[in-house]
Amino acid sequence: MSERIEKILARELNEPRSRVKTLLQKGQVTVDGVVARAGQQADPDTQEICLAGEPIACRAFVYLMLNKPTGVLSATDGKGEPTVLDLVPSALRRKGLFPAGRLDKDTEGLLVITSDGQLAHRIISPKHEVGKVYYARLDGELTDEDVAALEAGIHIRDADGEFDARPAQIDRDGGDAAYIRVTEGKYHQVKRMFAARGKQVVYLKRMAIGGLALDPDLQPGEWRELTEEEVRLLE
Ligand code: URA
Repeated sequence: MSERIEKILARELNEPRSRVKTLLQKGQVTVDGVVARAGQQADPDTQEICLAGEPIACRAFVYLMLNKPTGVLSATDGKGEPTVLDLVPSALRRKGLFPAGRLDKDTEGLLVITSDGQLAHRIISPKHEVGKVYYARLDGELTDEDVAALEAGIHIRDADGEFDARPAQIDRDGGDAAYIRVTEGKYHQVKRMFAARGKQVVYLKRMAIGGLALDPDLQPGEWRELTEEEVRLLE
């Protein structure tokens, strides 16, 4: 929520308004890197406010865990279609939230929604090799050969392009379902990996991101804030 910069500084620095005025006059305060003017509005939840180059400790990032239902887009703007942000209250949405990564429209499960760009980058970037575990049900039997190929690292060539998928970890659940752990998130990654073995994914749910598991008490469409400990699991 935007407030006058004087009000934010007085509260966060615990300084009288006269001192705050002086700091502004001296050009020592910046909002997102631009020198702040007296009387201007700023949003401490989404903007970085610095005094003499150092951030003042008022920016509070928001971290949510959503059990994404099918039928909604992992996007901030669905261009008329419902998005995951429609599932969280508007007061939180105003804090600059976005989904940290994408799940397909027909995929369910764990999605982190945050205002913390750095953390989101860590989750998404393949460089950091954050493991994502999915539960996949297939239209046919997963063979020993399929498992060996997926665990060795499979070459994908299909209508969407070509790439070498990194080795995955597979934990079978009966004949036609499995938990699969991957460390990258290419377009339709998991579906394409199974499709390369001639198996279509008929149901897909993300169960975990790094050390963070989907809360089993969250029904599809429900969300809750992450605890500090859970945020640390992602850092
Ligand atoms: N892999 C997919 O194919 N779809 C998803 O939504 C996530 C991973």
